[in-house]
Amino acid sequence: MPTVTLIKGDGIGPEVVDAAIRVIEAAGATIDWDEQVAGVTAVERGLETLPAVTLDSFSENRVCLKGPLTTPVGSGFRSVNVALRKEFDLYANVRPSKSLVPGGRYDDIDLVVIRENTEGLYAGIEHYIDTKRSAAESITIVTQDASRRVIQFAFDYVARRPRQHLTLVHKANILKYTSGLFLEVGKELADEHPEIEFNDRIIDNMAMQLVLDPHQFDTIVTTNMFGDILSDLCAGLVGGLGMAPAANVGEEMAMFEAVHGSAPDIAGKKIANPTALTLAAAMLCESIDQAEAGDRSRAAVERVLLEGQVRTPDLGGTATTDEFCDAVVDALELIPTAEAVG
Ligand code: NAI
Ligand code: MG
Repeated sequence: MPTVTLIKGDGIGPEVVDAAIRVIEAAGATIDWDEQVAGVTAVERGLETLPAVTLDSFSENRVCLKGPLTTPVGSGFRSVNVALRKEFDLYANVRPSKSLVPGGRYDDIDLVVIRENTEGLYAGIEHYIDTKRSAAESITIVTQDASRRVIQFAFDYVARRPRQHLTLVHKANILKYTSGLFLEVGKELADEHPEIEFNDRIIDNMAMQLVLDPHQFDTIVTTNMFGDILSDLCAGLVGGLGMAPAANVGEEMAMFEAVHGSAPDIAGKKIANPTALTLAAAMLCESIDQAEAGDRSRAAVERVLLEGQVRTPDLGGTATTDEFCDAVVDALELIPTAEAVG
């Protein structure tokens, strides 16, 4: 049985993580969970935001399921999410947004944002220029190497998709050096992959095009901050943040989470939508050779959402997190196992 590091996280984290684990285990996943803490929960226990035991657990297990972690706005400690991605060099953040609820703004959305996860404006090189805080500056870092590996990852990813289409998003008209370098590397790699349809878009136009006509796109690769923003936008196209999972992938490690944060406005109310975390846990199953449990979990979530009787408030329903989870676990009974199919 594989051991997987588990960080339940803050706010709605424990609620949605518990639901996700119930679903994948009911679907047949067998995992030994090594529970660790980080962020606010760690600080409350008198530990550092990213305790050494948590880091050791993840570096040994190489796979982690993580609930959202709160990051103070403005002052306070730096993002533990960003620190985890950087510490383990989880350079590609894969964020699929797929329509599961019919009758939304659009049907049949199937978009994937691949976000560079280690540099850009999230390199954290920021300071006030003087003690009076009269101005502040932030430095964005773009390297050829990090750009090449994430864009190469995107080409490899697209090669496995039905529609072989990749859009690189940038702001090279204004950020000629940083965004310009990312685009340049993308164009070089596009020449090496003539079988894949490749285009590029400037970020502001891309945001508008995604809202107006999302079906023209398939997979999107972009720098850290644009990827952060566009993946929330894409989640909005398929019903909101409750629907969007994420995988942070490195050479030999991966951390699975939701795109959403700790949602302090609904934390503790037990009404959070556990779909995003469940779909992330399903992706985790695939990564540990338990793809069947992942596929069955996904199919059960899709079935419950499609039937429409049991939905959480963010999707216009009245179900609690647990009621939705119960319905998904019940739906699993209707989804055959490979063994039953023969
Ligand atoms: P958020 O994603 O937590 O919430 C944005 C809005 O979406 C809220 O109205 C929330 O109620 C709703 N929402 C999010 N997830 C939902 C779910 N599963 N079901 C139903 N509604 C859901 O973003 P916000 O408020 O900007 O950030 C809150 C905290 O989370 C901050 O401390 C932020 O730094 C952190 N955060 C952590 C992330 C991570 O751990 N990877 C990612 C994004 C934010
Ligand atoms: Mg975000």
